[in-house]
Amino acid sequence: MKSVCCDALGTLIDISAITTQLEQQYPGQGIRIADLWRTKQVDYSRLRALGGQYKPFGKITQDALEATFLELRIVYSPHDLDTAMGQYLSGVAFPDARNFLDALKIPWSILTNGDRNFIQPILSNAGIDCPETHLLTSDQVETFKVDKGMYELTWSWAQECGTSLKSDVIFISANQWDAIAASWFGFTSCWINRTGQSPEKLGASPLFEVSSMSEIGTAAWISTCDRSYRYRIRTRPRLRGCTRTSHRTHHLNNHALGAWEQDFASPVAPLHLRFHHHCAISDPGSCNCHETAISILGISWRCSRGIFRD
Ligand code: LAC
Repeated sequence: MKSVCCDALGTLIDISAITTQLEQQYPGQGIRIADLWRTKQVDYSRLRALGGQYKPFGKITQDALEATFLELRIVYSPHDLDTAMGQYLSGVAFPDARNFLDALKIPWSILTNGDRNFIQPILSNAGIDCPETHLLTSDQVETFKVDKGMYELTWSWAQECGTSLKSDVIFISANQWDAIAASWFGFTSCWINRTGQSPEKLGASPLFEVSSMSEIGTAAWISTCDRSYRYRIRTRPRLRGCTRTSHRTHHLNNHALGAWEQDFASPVAPLHLRFHHHCAISDPGSCNCHETAISILGISWRCSRGIFRD
C-alpha cells in the first residue's frame, strides 16, 4: 500500500503573507527580513541538528528573527518579536494542497521541522485537519531535517499504515533540499517547484518535479508507464510576469511498472503520450488512465477529450 507524506511550511501552508505584513511594518525591508529570517531559521535547525543542540523550532524561529533584526540593524522590542512571530498564524493552505489532500484516498501524513506547539495552531488556522497520529514533528526525535531520524518518523508511520517498501512512500516538499534528502532515504520524492528554482547539485534529485500539487497525480501516473523512455512534460512556471513555457525532460524509473502491467493486459506504448500542463493523451482510446491514476495515488481523475484533470 502506498502512502503520502508532505512537508508543512511552504508546501501545504503558504507563509508568503508574512512578507507582506513585514513590508507594512518595515516599509522597503519586508522581503529582505523575510528571506534572511527563513535562511537563518533553516540554518539554525541544521546547525543544532548537527551539533546535537535541540531546541524547539518555534524558539529557533524566534532566535532567527532576533538575529535577522540585529544583522539588518533594526531596533526591536519584545512586542515587535511577538507581532512578527504571530504572523505565522496568518498562513493559509495553498488551494492546490487542499485539493490534493481532499482527493487522496491513501493514507497521508505531515513531516515537519515544527514542534507540536508551534505547528498545530498554524495548521488548524489554515484549516488543515491532520489526525494527531499522522502529524510527525521534530520534538518527537529532537532533531531536524535532513537528519535521517526525521525521515525514520515517516517510515515508521508508513509501515503502520501497511506500506512495506520505502519507495512506496511518496514524499512531497516544496523545499528542494527536503525532497532530495527524502530521495537519499529511499522515498519516492516529489519537489513542488512553485517558483521555478534551478536544480541543486547534491548527487540525487527528486523523482518528480512539478510546479503545483495539482500535477502530482499526473507525474505519478507517468511513472507507471515508464520503461526506459523519456517523457517531456511541459509546464508553465508560475512566475509572476512570466509567460514562457519551460521544457523539462523527466527520466523516470520503472518502479511502478508492475502497477501498469496489472491494469493492462499489454503495456501501451508510452511514446504516444504528450503532456501539456495537464495530462493530454494523443490516443485516449488506447488506455484508461482514469483507473491507473486511482491505482497509484487514489486520486479521482476526470477525462474529457483526452485531457485528464484532477
Ligand atoms: C517544515 C519546513 C522545513 O515544515 O518547511 O518542515
